[in-house]
Amino acid sequence: MRMTLRFALPLFLILGGITWAASPLTANLMTRWFRGDIELRSQLLFDSLKDAVADTQIETLFSRVRNDQRLLALGFCSPSGNLLQHSAGWPKPLGCPARPPDGGRLFAMERLKSGPLSMSAFALSAPGTDPGYLVFVHDLRFIDSRSRWADAYLAGLFALLAIMAVAVAVLVTRLTMRGWIKAVRDGLANSAEPVLPDHLAEAPEIASLVGDVHRMLRNGGNLRAANDIIRVDWTAESLKHLLKTELPETEVIVVSNREPYLHNDVDGRIQIQRPASGLVTALEPITRACGGTWIAHGSGSADARTVDEHDHVLVPPESPSYVLRRIWLSDEELNGYYFGLANEGIWPLCHIAFVRPTFRASDWHQYVAVNRKFAEAVIAEAKTTNPLVLVQDYHFALLPRMIRERLPDATIITFWHIPWPNPEMFSICPWREEILTGLLSSSILGFHTQFHCINFLEAVDRFLECHIDREHSTVTTGSRTTLIRPYPISIEWPPTALAGQPGIPECRRTVRERFNLAADIMLAVGVERFDYTKGITDRFRAVESMLETHPEWIGRFSLLQIAAPSRSQLPAYRDVQTEAQETARLINERFGRDGWTPILLVARHHEPEEVFTLFRAADLCVVSSLHDGMNLVAKEFVAARDDDDGVLVLSTFAGASRELLEALIVNPYDIQAMGEAIHQALVMTPEQRKERMHLMRDMVAEYNVHFWAGRMLLDAARMRKRQNIESTTTTMAGLNEHP
Ligand code: F6P
Repeated sequence: MRMTLRFALPLFLILGGITWAASPLTANLMTRWFRGDIELRSQLLFDSLKDAVADTQIETLFSRVRNDQRLLALGFCSPSGNLLQHSAGWPKPLGCPARPPDGGRLFAMERLKSGPLSMSAFALSAPGTDPGYLVFVHDLRFIDSRSRWADAYLAGLFALLAIMAVAVAVLVTRLTMRGWIKAVRDGLANSAEPVLPDHLAEAPEIASLVGDVHRMLRNGGNLRAANDIIRVDWTAESLKHLLKTELPETEVIVVSNREPYLHNDVDGRIQIQRPASGLVTALEPITRACGGTWIAHGSGSADARTVDEHDHVLVPPESPSYVLRRIWLSDEELNGYYFGLANEGIWPLCHIAFVRPTFRASDWHQYVAVNRKFAEAVIAEAKTTNPLVLVQDYHFALLPRMIRERLPDATIITFWHIPWPNPEMFSICPWREEILTGLLSSSILGFHTQFHCINFLEAVDRFLECHIDREHSTVTTGSRTTLIRPYPISIEWPPTALAGQPGIPECRRTVRERFNLAADIMLAVGVERFDYTKGITDRFRAVESMLETHPEWIGRFSLLQIAAPSRSQLPAYRDVQTEAQETARLINERFGRDGWTPILLVARHHEPEEVFTLFRAADLCVVSSLHDGMNLVAKEFVAARDDDDGVLVLSTFAGASRELLEALIVNPYDIQAMGEAIHQALVMTPEQRKERMHLMRDMVAEYNVHFWAGRMLLDAARMRKRQNIESTTTTMAGLNEHP
């Protein structure tokens, strides 16, 4: 029925329109036909009468012809246009034709209130009669009624045609669809891949449809498989519950280089700072939920003053729920382990940003020593023999092995927060075997994406003697098996920093006032550490390109770039900071005018609440990383937009682009395309913005950081249970052997 309507409605509308448009034409045509007839008729009548006029009184003549059906009246006019005589029925307001008949005759049309009339006048100068002209008045009303009939007939004909056309179209469509549906069914039946009957090989649209359905089913299957273990709404509460039920009595220890809270001495007063770190953003809510101990480098200027005699401090400061154990590092240790090996060696090794890694033996020694120091701290903090240790990031590649040596029953989950390079890249590292074996002492080794897991497995395959089970994604070295899995990291939902945020209009107003921006300026934001992997300069160039291509944005758009100074003592970081500042200066010089600047670069740390206000004030957020494990800024921007508005421009080289598919995905190396994407973001309709943001928010809400941790903990719980079963079996076998 719906399909019939779909055909019928437009067809009726079109044909109705044609009928309506044709109606004046039909009326005109008919009027001309009938007037011609009437005029001919008048001529014939006059010809037959004119000779009789001499012998007959005009009154007699009038009474003779007035029986004619159409002839309304006859009149006789003087040459000067006075009506001398007329028959009965002569319409009252009608006078003689305004001018005498031209060439002996004149045809005219008059429209009175009663309807249209035709006047045919013929000059008459018969002997015995005064000269003048004889006027025949014909009633033309019948033309109107005949036109109406013709219109009705036309409309009826078109309606009939329309019904017939719809019937034929519906029939043909139904038959075709029946064929298509059968083809799709045949294609899907009992096959993993689309198999189509021969005659449909010529219909590629069917093949692609079948392919799509197969893909959807496969993806659906995968998702279902993944979701089988996570039929939970992931919150801090569900995570606590999971720990209680799946990992009862388990002690949790987190290890990272960066601490979640720094105590800084600011003008003699202690101030708490939360670092600009994706790792901390993700791990902090998890540790709050799980309790336990977090071991990290104490890097705040007042850190030492705020710990107890065990180097412990309870955090979060507002409602303490776990212990922060601080580790003190000397300058030598910090330079070798953190700045040297971790950030000049491993960081550029793992990020494709075309900064050459530097490997120094002295840095390596410090790296080994500091990993050992942290291992000692883990052992000292552990109250049980089998704690759950969550080792974070590239600062601690050796730590799992060092912990395992002393706590063989510990469950060690190591998460590598940055990309893992391909084997060619990785092969340049002088300590590649040590790093791989160090990591493979973990029970579980997690990366953000499957791609990085594959790179890792290939590196292991190339450089170590071991068994790789690709189906289960495990590596076995000696008697130890490590599970290698992707766990895309996320943020807490809803984020703590969102609580207490003012409404969007107020955020917009505050931020525009604070940065001296006009109230109606379109605002893009970028927020990150000042790091060469983040593509900050490329982003500035994209803005420049957009202003060149779309000068309508000059004076109407600004990019606010927040860049927290980071690792500034390293030359590569100093270079990128200088380059970004210089690029911004040149662009501002070129385009800036009347107090307006296209790029505002603010190189200082912002607390999460401030960042969220910026996100809420912005029209778009640009994340243009040249390479990034995940990039939580992208997810935070989405989380901040509880108004479902704002556009995310996101680098395809950030792990987040695998999940936030509704962002405008860009290649940060393609400056023009990135500029065009920013323009697209600015002109996107509110409906499109809403639709995209809504889908991204659903994604981040569901796959939040509790989901991330929950999946790892579930895998760990399963592993621990299996180990328990295995050790019980071994003990029983031992008992049987030695009764
Ligand atoms: O991107 C990986 C990561 O460990 C982040 O989690 C963190 O933001 C950053 O690197 C480390 O920064 P920093 O050296 O300042 O601790």
